[in-house]
Amino acid sequence: MIIAKTVKEVREYVAKWHKDNLTVGLVPTMGYLHEGHASLVDKARADCDKVVVSDFVNPTQFAPNEDLEAYPRDFEHDCKLLEEHGCDMLFYPSVEEMYVPNSKTFVEILDEMPKQLCGKTRPIHFRGVCTVVSKLFNIVQPDKAFFGQKDAQQLAIIRRMTREMSYGIEIVGCPIIRESDGLAKSSRNTYLSPEERKAALVLSKAIFHGEKLVKSGISDSKTVLDEMKAIISAEPLAKIDYVSAVDGVTMFPVDKISNGVLVAIAVYIGKTRLIDNFIAGGLK
Ligand code: PAF
Repeated sequence: MIIAKTVKEVREYVAKWHKDNLTVGLVPTMGYLHEGHASLVDKARADCDKVVVSDFVNPTQFAPNEDLEAYPRDFEHDCKLLEEHGCDMLFYPSVEEMYVPNSKTFVEILDEMPKQLCGKTRPIHFRGVCTVVSKLFNIVQPDKAFFGQKDAQQLAIIRRMTREMSYGIEIVGCPIIRESDGLAKSSRNTYLSPEERKAALVLSKAIFHGEKLVKSGISDSKTVLDEMKAIISAEPLAKIDYVSAVDGVTMFPVDKISNGVLVAIAVYIGKTRLIDNFIAGGLK
């Protein structure tokens, strides 16, 4: 596996691959990789001739009160996992390589969509995500890019940004990967104490219950969301940020849950904020 630390190196390799008519898949990550990331790499490996994974903890998507400094990192482990899953190139830039000093250029969707759900408590988050993903698209010039459904709002925002910025890149959404007991895989699960780890199961319990209700034919959002909220509220260590049913494209709240509606939750377990979701009728 090639480990590239500079934009120049990435451009040189990718230019050669494109010259040889090879397709390139990009998996953007912030490192501390787990089976969720591995599933994105596997999908990219199956779909494309060459697979590039970026590992960059992007400062512009963290507010000053968030966990940028504490965000877990394990470069050795990431390299091992990527080698095992057949990644061709790991892009591992420094902050200085990604952002020229005093960088003030951002990519942002100036609409209500990024202000819904996670955008309510993380107002600058999606501007940082769009900016860094745009930069990665410009640097790597992939044919396809792979993102997890766990960050469903991020996936919808990146799809829209890609369309509106005419990137000509296919955005591939990949299903949520869970621990054997149901908890959605997340690098942030590592923050949980053993007691919190048990408590965190209320997220997947609420998601599975909501999905079961919808599959049984209940479409009234309030009924579904109220039952999900009751499950979460029964756990003393859990504090609800949001439990919402929104249109899967616009992220606006809906009264009826039909195919394509995103039912998403964000819950604090102690100090750790976790997210989970399901899409009625499944991910398209
Ligand atoms: O989902 C993530 O890990 C990040 O938001 C992303 C897409 C790599 C951008 O930093």
